[in-house]
Amino acid sequence: MPILVEPALPAGILSDKQQPRLKADDLVLRPWRAADAPIVKAAFDCPDIQRWHVRRLDTLEEAVEWTGQWPLRWAAEEAVSWAIVDDTDEPLGQVGLRSISLAEGAAGVSYWVLPDARGRGLAARAVAAMCGWAFGEVGLNRLENHHSTLNQASCRVAEMTGFPHEGTLRRAIKHADGWHDWHVHGRLSTDA
Ligand SMILES: CC(C)(COP(=O)(O)OP(=O)(O)OC[C@H]1O[C@@H](n2cnc3c(N)ncnc32)[C@H](O)[C@@H]1OP(=O)(O)O)[C@@H](O)C(=O)NCCC(=O)NCCS
Repeated sequence: MPILVEPALPAGILSDKQQPRLKADDLVLRPWRAADAPIVKAAFDCPDIQRWHVRRLDTLEEAVEWTGQWPLRWAAEEAVSWAIVDDTDEPLGQVGLRSISLAEGAAGVSYWVLPDARGRGLAARAVAAMCGWAFGEVGLNRLENHHSTLNQASCRVAEMTGFPHEGTLRRAIKHADGWHDWHVHGRLSTDA
């Protein structure tokens, strides 16, 4: 059947280019490398990060696989992830987009920060830089931040980055400990 609504963005708008490095104040968002695997494994071993994610990593090999998935997912224009680094170039956290829909001009926001790097607003600075790229360079229309209603740190990051709370989806996400209600926060390219 013919499509009635034109896609918001054309296929290839991401995959025709390399994943960029982005500047976020004194931080840099850079693509992941296989050499980052031990830090990725340490992040996934953090109980706070595990609590809000649906996967775990049991081995270093799985962490290497995790770092290697991103070029493929960029090429498929379905997801992107950056390591948040400072001038040491060691990853302090992760920020990225999931469920990218170019046709709908939309994506979901994802982030975590290693325990030792928390308390310095890293996630908010990384999300702000990524939003500048996603709205300004790519031309996405809407980004969403979904988090369990029990994840107050994530709620605060959403508020700090200009994603107002738009509503609550009941029992919308299953974590390891069972069903959680989901806060939906959204930011539009037309927002101030
Ligand atoms: C969410 C997360 C990325 C924030 O890390 P961060 O960028 O270092 O955030 P900060 O510690 O600088 O705190 C940012 C804000 O959240 C608040 N905050 C942090 N932890 C909090 C908590 N447990 N409860 C309530 N507020 C909290 C801080 O006070 C700060 O707000 P303020 O500037 O108004 O004081 C980090 O806690 C994390 O990795 N959590 C586990 C993974 C996760 O939840 N990912 C998101 C899944 S949806």
